[in-house]
Amino acid sequence: MAAQAQLTVPTDAELLQAQADLWRHSLYYMTSMAFQCAVKLGIPTTIHRLGGTASLPDLVTALSLPPAKLPYLRRIMRLLATSGVFATTDVDVYRLTPISFLLLDGIDVDGHPSQTTVVLAATARHCVEAALGLTDWFRKDVAGSPFEDLHGVTLFDGSMAEAEPEIDAVAWTPSPTAAAATAPPRDPSSRPSRTSIKCTVLDLPRVIDAIPADGVVNYVAGDMFNLVPPAQAVLVKLVLHHWSDEDCVKILAQCKKAIPSREEGGKVIVIDILVDPSSGPTHEAELLVDVAMMILTNGRQRDESDWAEIFTKAGFSGYNIVKKLGARGVFEVYP
Ligand SMILES: C[S@@+](CC[C@H](N)C(=O)[O-])C[C@H]1O[C@@H](n2cnc3c(N)ncnc32)[C@H](O)[C@@H]1O
Repeated sequence: MAAQAQLTVPTDAELLQAQADLWRHSLYYMTSMAFQCAVKLGIPTTIHRLGGTASLPDLVTALSLPPAKLPYLRRIMRLLATSGVFATTDVDVYRLTPISFLLLDGIDVDGHPSQTTVVLAATARHCVEAALGLTDWFRKDVAGSPFEDLHGVTLFDGSMAEAEPEIDAVAWTPSPTAAAATAPPRDPSSRPSRTSIKCTVLDLPRVIDAIPADGVVNYVAGDMFNLVPPAQAVLVKLVLHHWSDEDCVKILAQCKKAIPSREEGGKVIVIDILVDPSSGPTHEAELLVDVAMMILTNGRQRDESDWAEIFTKAGFSGYNIVKKLGARGVFEVYP
């Protein structure tokens, strides 16, 4: 019989802290749900419209909530203020923080697009249900994600538009999958001029068909696994983390075919999560998005060596990390 491991009994102080931490870990989803509720009620935008700070009674009135809900709203706001979503300026008075600034809807602040779609998709019913199925999924010998196993379709399936529009809104965001700056190959030593840049956006037909032509961007309907339109540089932003390593190699191989040689200035620009344990509090976000990708897609978040391996397998000769933007890395990848 194997020897039993020696069990060190924690101190009373450690056990009390552990009990509080156990509640915290078990109930973290309450923060997610309170966060979703604040977004759905439109609290960040309402605080902004009320002049940047708002008292609870003002919020209740502006949101047209029943007055009896004020004490409940106080409890939600107190939790969200503790989590940094809002800040308090006085008793029962709240103001925006950088997190809630990202959630202003219908207000153009220096061209920052509202991130409400991300919150609503991440907390959508189909996604939460997939997460609840994680234990069953571990016990089954299946290849697809817990989302696919439970719902029978992938996150990107067209049926999601009807099943849960919140997921569809972010999974099929009309922003570019692969935006290609298609100026003719130029002297690599010359600096790019904005006016010479032509932009092509590749996405699936059902996404492209919904975008009105603007005469500026060339929208191309297609499949990045089959063909990426020729370009001087191809930009792939927050796309690859949804896909397995094998799929990433296939996508990047198509990108490589689309660009000229390294000597002629050809490159692929990849902007995606770069897992880095030294990135402080951002690292927890990197790991949370990684597990979200595991539950919702066949993708994952990658550290630098994972990215390097994929770039090499896709036939690229080298890469540079030109910037780290929060949890994201900006890579230039050379043919
Ligand atoms: C999460 S979005 C991309 C995020 C966006 N680039 C951004 O920065 O916010 C994923 C995109 O990949 C597109 N997509 C999925 N499969 C594709 C395929 N086979 N070919 C081209 N685009 C595809 C989706 O339509 C969607 O626009």
